[in-house]
Amino acid sequence: MKKNLIVANWKMHLNVSSASIYINRFNKEVPVHRNIEVVIAPSFLAIQPLSLEVDHRKIKLAAQNAYFKDEGAFTGEVSFTMLRDLVKYVIIGHSERRLYFHEDLETVRDKVSACYRNGLTPILCIGETKAERIAGETKRVIHDQLITALSNLTAEEVRGIVIAYEPIWAISTFQGEVAKPQDIQRVIDFIVYQISELYGSKVAEEVRILYGGSVNPDSVSGYLALENCDGALIGGASLNYLEFAKIINKAYLIRGKE
Ligand code: 13P
Repeated sequence: MKKNLIVANWKMHLNVSSASIYINRFNKEVPVHRNIEVVIAPSFLAIQPLSLEVDHRKIKLAAQNAYFKDEGAFTGEVSFTMLRDLVKYVIIGHSERRLYFHEDLETVRDKVSACYRNGLTPILCIGETKAERIAGETKRVIHDQLITALSNLTAEEVRGIVIAYEPIWAISTFQGEVAKPQDIQRVIDFIVYQISELYGSKVAEEVRILYGGSVNPDSVSGYLALENCDGALIGGASLNYLEFAKIINKAYLIRGKE
């Protein structure tokens, strides 16, 4: 069975010492769950110290971004190559990167390729804005983001990818609304359909799809109960270790015992 994935995206929060305090407390709060993988994506600076502190049976690390060239004169960038051995996952194409840092479809595609080239697993974020949703363009946006991001991959590589469906209209950064689980189900179904059209149903069954809109310990169960929803990518609610631990516990109650 697929392992469910609960990912904390700390965004630009928690400096190295706060991150270390968090992990110390969190390590004690959360047991090892066989069917649930807990992932934390701290700032670049905190990745290296945390890699020495986390209990690796309980927590895997992710980066929130990386640059698609492996090495060179690219001032200020960090490559996927530099992240090898430190993280297992890299978040790619988060809506904040697409919007604030102008990452286009091709940049995201090149990052996905670089991620695999370096033996890491992408958590590929896709999702539509509020305006696109209102205009009825959700499927077109998801289709374009997905097709381009996966275009350099083999079916074998696609099989291992993690896709986070992040409706931009439902994340706190953009004063989002609370998404109805049935609306999310429709898009998850579409993502599965698209992947099976391109790579076959066997591959589509294995790809893990996360919900990436706003959740908290009370709302997360509604999304995790959806068909083919294999976890969540969590922003604000993951900054408090107790809240995040509660979310993991909810995930365990719904998915962990399967
Ligand atoms: P919030 O949970 O803060 O709304 O953020 C969601 C998100 O962007 C996850 O990456």
